[in-house]
Amino acid sequence: MANVTFSSPELKKDITVYATAGDCHTLLAVAKANKIPVEFECENGECGSCAVEVIVLTNKQPMGMHLTEKEKTVLKLAGKITKAQIEEAELKDIPPPWRLACQYIVRDEEIVVKF
Ligand code: FES
Repeated sequence: MANVTFSSPELKKDITVYATAGDCHTLLAVAKANKIPVEFECENGECGSCAVEVIVLTNKQPMGMHLTEKEKTVLKLAGKITKAQIEEAELKDIPPPWRLACQYIVRDEEIVVKF
């Protein structure tokens, strides 16, 4: 079970939803299922409109999450990720703060999603 808290100036207050870990749902799918207005267009990691900031709340090291080539390229072009952060993600399994909601798979950890 993963707690996902969505936070945005577009929301009256933060909204926490419970995502079942292991379902392999993307963050965007969780947002859509709960009617959270995260922006999106392509749903395929190409447009960058679903870029969100993800903050891991658990005391454990954040779970390493594979960044797709599309996600790396789009986030880099949008200025949301540095070359150093890409290397950290690849070599040390340290996820960068900005992710594409349509590419990010929700894992068993508590996160805050800012958009
Ligand atoms: Fe286009 Fe996620 S919706 S990159």
